[in-house]
Amino acid sequence: MTDHSRYYITAAFLLGVALTAAYQNWSIEHASEQSEGRLKQQQRLISKFSKITDLDNIKKSLAEIEQSLEKGGGNIKEGIEGCIGDTPLIKIKSLSEATGCDILAKAEFLNGAGNSPKDRVALSIIQMAEEKGLLIPHSGDTIYEGTVGSTGISLAAICRARGYKAHICMPNDMAIEKSDLLLKLGAEVERVRPAPIVDQNQFVNLARTRAKEHTDSPDKPGRGLFADQFETEANWRAHFTGTGPEIYEQTGGFLDAFVSGAGTGGTISGVALFLKSKLPDLKVVLADPPGSGLYNRVKYGVMFDPKEREGTRRRHQVDTIVEGIGINRVTHNFEVGRGLIDDAIRVTDEQAIAMARWLVENDGIFVGSSSAVNCVAAAKLAKQLGPGHRIVTLLCDSGARHLSKFWASTEPIGGIENDVSLEKILGS
Ligand SMILES: Cc1ncc(COP(=O)(O)O)c(C=O)c1O
Repeated sequence: MTDHSRYYITAAFLLGVALTAAYQNWSIEHASEQSEGRLKQQQRLISKFSKITDLDNIKKSLAEIEQSLEKGGGNIKEGIEGCIGDTPLIKIKSLSEATGCDILAKAEFLNGAGNSPKDRVALSIIQMAEEKGLLIPHSGDTIYEGTVGSTGISLAAICRARGYKAHICMPNDMAIEKSDLLLKLGAEVERVRPAPIVDQNQFVNLARTRAKEHTDSPDKPGRGLFADQFETEANWRAHFTGTGPEIYEQTGGFLDAFVSGAGTGGTISGVALFLKSKLPDLKVVLADPPGSGLYNRVKYGVMFDPKEREGTRRRHQVDTIVEGIGINRVTHNFEVGRGLIDDAIRVTDEQAIAMARWLVENDGIFVGSSSAVNCVAAAKLAKQLGPGHRIVTLLCDSGARHLSKFWASTEPIGGIENDVSLEKILGS
């Protein structure tokens, strides 16, 4: 190659590089001009069609919207099941200020299908059964469950989404809005008299029997599957892989204690197993309503006095206005994590009712009875630990599920009692 050709090739190459760089600059500027152009057009339209006086603020938020639209990516959930998990962790400002501790609550009522932590469990039960080939969509396969309401509502919603039917057996003293909701979700509902677990008509036993009857029946299409939330591995695992890791991530691993009530025990066990594997010094504390044997199980290793054993007495299972937590028998889901529970705090019905009102009065948070029990226990623990600690608990479901029972017992909001102090609530 002659010197002349070499100069020519080098010059052509340099020119190419310069042109490419100039084009890239131009296209970036052009794109931002385009985006500015779009923004100006939007702003002109807004000014033309409205009498907005704070246009500068709107301009600022429009610019932010444009920026995030340009980043793209989208955020589309895959069906109602896609709206389960990743719930926010909320600082309860009033309780944090009053105790000097950070009291954080996982807003499990924002799970999108049945609006409680039971969404995670119901989805996990259904997915596990599908993996084992035990459920076939649109075949008539029906899920049977004994539940005080929340698990049934989650199962009923997810069953609809995935082509199954739901049949729910529940005690007839639970708030009526829960069974109304189940019916609206198209579930079959059997409300039965509260009974001890040795009774074959107890709601959990009845659900098991109904599932078997379905499978054995030549007239019913598909099979019956007993969800078995108290004993199934799918329950605590949903919290071990979901709720626990989410709490760890949301707090950056900075927390001193986790407080939760237990019904099946799946939540406290699953979360404790995950968090304690990361934070061995974390304190896990059970919040227990009146009449439940779990408090003694945690404190002294015994569930109940022999004369209190279910099967020898025939009165109501757990003597409280609180729904969803407290139990008087050993369940697999509680036992899985029992060794990791450090302490238990007893919460009275009066304390739970007063706390539910406090949360509305001070924070605009409207929750059900088990959430109120959790918050009383979290505040009591904060007082025990002293200022500067960080405590995580759960807000399980909305007060809307408890209007006719738990919330019917509260004083009017903004009424004469609205200056009740936290000390008074915790002492009552
Ligand atoms: C409203 C509510 N909160 C809390 C719980 C307790 O959760 P777990 O069964 O995981 O102990 C339940 C259980 O049914 C519930 O319905």
